[in-house]
Amino acid sequence: MPNKRIQIFDTTLRDGEQVPGCQLNTDEKIEVARALEALGVDVMEVGFPISSPGDFKSVEKIAGIIQNSTVCALSRAVEKDIEVAAEAIRNAARPRIHTGIGTSDSHVFNKLKTTREDVIERGVAAVKFAKRFVEDVEFYAEDAGRTENEFLARILEKVIAAGATVVNIPDTTGYCLPWDYGAKIRYLKENVKGIDDVTISTHCHNDLGLASANSIAGVVHGATQIECTINGIGERAGNASLEEVVMIMRTQKGLDFDTGINTKCLKSVSELVSSKMRMPVQPNKAIVGANAFAHSSGIHQDGVIKSRETYEIIDPLDVGVGESSIVLTARSGRAALKFRAERLGFSVGKEELEDRYQEFLGVADRKKVVEDQDLIQIFSHRARKTA
Ligand code: KIV
Ligand code: ZN
Repeated sequence: MPNKRIQIFDTTLRDGEQVPGCQLNTDEKIEVARALEALGVDVMEVGFPISSPGDFKSVEKIAGIIQNSTVCALSRAVEKDIEVAAEAIRNAARPRIHTGIGTSDSHVFNKLKTTREDVIERGVAAVKFAKRFVEDVEFYAEDAGRTENEFLARILEKVIAAGATVVNIPDTTGYCLPWDYGAKIRYLKENVKGIDDVTISTHCHNDLGLASANSIAGVVHGATQIECTINGIGERAGNASLEEVVMIMRTQKGLDFDTGINTKCLKSVSELVSSKMRMPVQPNKAIVGANAFAHSSGIHQDGVIKSRETYEIIDPLDVGVGESSIVLTARSGRAALKFRAERLGFSVGKEELEDRYQEFLGVADRKKVVEDQDLIQIFSHRARKTA
């Protein structure tokens, strides 16, 4: 049986771009959008057009360029927002409007200061209004993670009847545990009339570090679209990271899921987003961090040199990282030193290795990381001595 295809909805240029200091100009947004298209995302949410004239222009330009991915614009459940979103994506090959409203008690009673019935009415009206402009309308139930399941089911049933093609179940505050989020999706699958005719989407925030785990729990229980961002950027602690959810599904064969992502582009797209947004990637970030395929302790280096799989579950080439790196520090062993010296063209016998290893440790204790330049000093010194 072929694996179940999960749609990847990238929101780097909308939720990701909401990060303070990460705003991009139109040209930068276009460059990222082209990279996302080449990466193979199914949907890219590229802005919130009512928010500013600059954002409107970026969305409009991108909509006119991108051919292979659906281009989505965000709006609140407000007619003016929807009109402006529709105008911005009017030239898209595959346009989608993403509209919605808060559904948790906190949103209904404290933020919107209204009633549940009114929220249902506004959600339904927004979907019907958006359908005047595009066929593909996604509805988000903001703070669905903390919304009572019965009410969530009620509003989703109504927006589906009104024409929503995708229902998004955001864990807006990153509050859910994976099994609770998974159970919520299953509950909706079992209790909402018409749900089998639409796409269920996850949109998980990372406030407790669970965004990727929750997204996977969502697809295990019936969602078929994951909303995520490159490098996991987004409001507060960010969103589910695209590279993580994609590689979890690719690596865990037991899950029987796949995506249309060209994983070999992951590292370069991560670097592009990081540099354009001036948002460094933490070195220990899964998949795309500088240390994700670096081995520095002697025990690990020995294992990886003998067989990469000993300490790596992903082939770095599969995510566009040149190769695993053997980093030389004072915790490294002889096998790593020999490996790196041989890569520089030095042939190292057993006895010499012992001598050079002691010299290497002296350098390593003085410096945090021993570089090729240091190795050349250590090994060419040996050549001079033996000459
Ligand atoms: O986190 C959230 O709820 C959102 C919605 C606007 C989809 O970003
Ligand atoms: Zn969000």
